[in-house]
Amino acid sequence: MQEILSRYETVTEDAVNEWFRVGEATDFPENSGACIKYKNKQIAVYNFSRIGKWYATQNLCPHKMEMVLSLGMIGDKDDIPKVACPMHKKNFSLEDGSGLGGNDLKIATYPVKIENGNVYIGFSD
Ligand code: FES
Repeated sequence: MQEILSRYETVTEDAVNEWFRVGEATDFPENSGACIKYKNKQIAVYNFSRIGKWYATQNLCPHKMEMVLSLGMIGDKDDIPKVACPMHKKNFSLEDGSGLGGNDLKIATYPVKIENGNVYIGFSD
């Protein structure tokens, strides 16, 4: 369990050493998530078109170690963009991965950029 979790660490834009292309922006459903693979990681990518933003997080929900976050509902809680895990509805901030609403779990987040209609996620490994 620890081994799987250790694969996921938040990457800040300053730390990026590879922008990995994951597809065209039009490949990603609006206001919802999709899952991509990078090395041995599953990453959830969210095209939050309602607010004009993109986010990426680990796909792994740390609550019961389920690879499900890309299937979660996105929305906001007190103006913080968030995803709700589809299993037991724990909420995580899409901005910094912190648990919301009394949830002290945390998920890794990754920077996303859109260039010439392509979607790139930033990794540091
Ligand atoms: S597995 Fe995600 S909230 Fe339980």
